[in-house]
Amino acid sequence: MRILVTYHSLTGNTRMVAEAMYEALPEPKDIKPVAQVTDLSGYDLVFIGFPVHSHSVPARMEPFLKSLPAGLKTALFMTHGSIPGTRLAREAMEQALILAGQTRILGTFTCRGKVSEQAMEILSRSPEHELWTEMAVTARNHPDHHDLEDARTFARWVVNLARQ
Ligand SMILES: Cc1cc2nc3c(=O)[nH]c(=O)nc-3n(C[C@H](O)[C@H](O)[C@H](O)COP(=O)(O)O)c2cc1C
Repeated sequence: MRILVTYHSLTGNTRMVAEAMYEALPEPKDIKPVAQVTDLSGYDLVFIGFPVHSHSVPARMEPFLKSLPAGLKTALFMTHGSIPGTRLAREAMEQALILAGQTRILGTFTCRGKVSEQAMEILSRSPEHELWTEMAVTARNHPDHHDLEDARTFARWVVNLARQ
């Protein structure tokens, strides 16, 4: 079973999670940013990661998720700044599940990721983002050791499912 881990990451959080998952996977395996993926033929299982941007899948990811081959085994993972379970953290994964709905999604994984100072600075200027920036403060140490350990365990769990 050939496995690909691919991700979109602006500030490195999703890449850290992608690398942890990659570490836990058996050979043969590859890891690369979505921008470098040209051909998915030859892969039996693909892990796909992205950050939440404005409670959505980043625009960059939409065509990629939509164009995945029907029936391909996939696992989706996401990092986000806000508190788990809130709309800001949830809706992007719901959207991704629809965009990649033609694939066989074996699992999803989410964890928090620190919000860059630049993003905080921009968001804190508009009053409607006040509560959001308050939430984002406690994301500052993520992804942490436990998040990465969970990411490795998730990756192994998905591989087991893919073999069944
Ligand atoms: C422009 C922008 C918009 C964001 N919007 C959200 C959001 O709506 N909800 C959320 O939980 N996090 C949001 N975040 C925080 C990121 O999802 C979080 O920091 C993520 O871990 C970044 O991943 P990356 O380092 O792989 O780019 C936003 C970050 C940026 C830069």
